[in-house]
Amino acid sequence: MSSALAVETTILHRRSIKPAQMNGNKIQDDLVDHLLEMANWAPTHGLTEPWFYLVFSGEKVQEFCFQHAQLYKNSTPSEKYTEAAYEKILHNGDKASHILAAIMKRGDNQKIPEQEEMASVAASIQNILLTATAHGIASFWSTSGMTYQQAMKDFLQLRPQDKLMGFIFLGYSDLPFTDGKRMKSHAEKSKWA
Ligand SMILES: Cc1cc2nc3c(=O)[nH]c(=O)nc-3n(C[C@H](O)[C@H](O)[C@H](O)COP(=O)(O)O)c2cc1C
Repeated sequence: MSSALAVETTILHRRSIKPAQMNGNKIQDDLVDHLLEMANWAPTHGLTEPWFYLVFSGEKVQEFCFQHAQLYKNSTPSEKYTEAAYEKILHNGDKASHILAAIMKRGDNQKIPEQEEMASVAASIQNILLTATAHGIASFWSTSGMTYQQAMKDFLQLRPQDKLMGFIFLGYSDLPFTDGKRMKSHAEKSKWA
């Protein structure tokens, strides 16, 4: 297979696989470390390299889901709180192998706009998702639960200028590959000037 075809096949084969559809098998920590190494090769304006990943592995996965659920319980107004949402957060990682908190850690170079730093972290996340796909690892980028709440930011000890970009669930899955779905073709989202 040519390297172009290998890259394109990986892009087309990347699917969001929900953590509940993972099978509980564990990824070697070394392989997750390799995904993080690939994340480090995202484009970065001014070499600010604004991505930071907090890795939950082994029993830390369940511990983190418990903490996440507690944050939801303790900081959600009673009229919005549901037991179903609590249970979903609590058990979201039951079949995942690792969870990565994907963080935009703002550096001192204020010449680079915040949106570029977030774009750079998103590119590094995509590196993880694509490398995971190439290694037969299922992945899921989640921004659900408490992701955007201050309580989560406090829990992760982020500074006001940092941003939590989401949680990346990693694991293995027995699901057969399914084609992706897009509402519009690339032709409708591009124009040749
Ligand atoms: C920034 C971001 C956040 C996302 N958060 C969620 C989420 O919280 N829940 C969810 O079901 N999917 C989430 N997704 C995954 C999308 O649902 C998924 O990418 C979309 O359905 C397209 O499917 P595909 O990734 O398999 O191509 C997120 C995707 C992105 C880029």
